[in-house]
Amino acid sequence: MKILAIHGSPRTIRSTTRKLAGFVLEGAAEAGAETEMIDLADYSIIPCTSCEACSLNGICVNDDDVPALLIRMQEADGIIFGSPVYIDNITGQMKVFFDRLADAIHYQLLAGKYGCSIATTYESGGDDVVTYLNHVLNYLGVLSVGGISIATGGKIETMNAVEPGAKTLGRKLADAISGGFSDPAQQAILEDNRGFFRSLVEENKDFRTEDYDRWVRMGWIEK
Ligand SMILES: Cc1cc2nc3c(=O)[nH]c(=O)nc-3n(C[C@H](O)[C@H](O)[C@H](O)COP(=O)(O)O)c2cc1C
Repeated sequence: MKILAIHGSPRTIRSTTRKLAGFVLEGAAEAGAETEMIDLADYSIIPCTSCEACSLNGICVNDDDVPALLIRMQEADGIIFGSPVYIDNITGQMKVFFDRLADAIHYQLLAGKYGCSIATTYESGGDDVVTYLNHVLNYLGVLSVGGISIATGGKIETMNAVEPGAKTLGRKLADAISGGFSDPAQQAILEDNRGFFRSLVEENKDFRTEDYDRWVRMGWIEK
């Protein structure tokens, strides 16, 4: 069982968000997961320009690290998204990455995985960012087992208080992967999302045959 944490703090190894993601990964490792951390800021991620080339074959015209990052996400069973709060939202690094996942969202390339989200902030916006990150997981077809945020007030020692909860979240994620997890409300959202993207997959079935066939196999499209 592989669990991957991806965080969008530009402070990379000095990041509080990375530290919080690390606690979640520790909890997951205690439950038997193999874990991995990705500092997005270390990768080349060129912003989407809406050229729509990816809609032809899923391949972006830009030569950067996103395809390799997507493969790592596809190889994982669990995905943790994390971001510091920047002006009440996720960081630019994280958003540029998400925009590049539009094709993965349309074709539901990560469907069937489990995830969770985390955020850190000085004072406010942490819960809203967790909600948004979980919303993006759902867009990707990933079922979230929850999330956690911390307002540090600039004091790193506040992280001690959140450590047990973060580890519990990591264990919950690992347990969902090994034993299953159900959330009817969220599953209805995933189904709605597929309903929304279905017409696109059907429209493009002549040149996205593999994706179309996968949707048929998954029972998301009736032939
Ligand atoms: C550009 C910028 C914008 C920020 N915006 C907010 C904000 O809107 N609200 C808040 O409470 N903290 C804000 N912060 C503080 C960070 O959210 C906080 O320090 C966070 O824990 C940093 O995480 P990191 O160490 O993982 O980068 C901001 C920090 C920066 C650098």
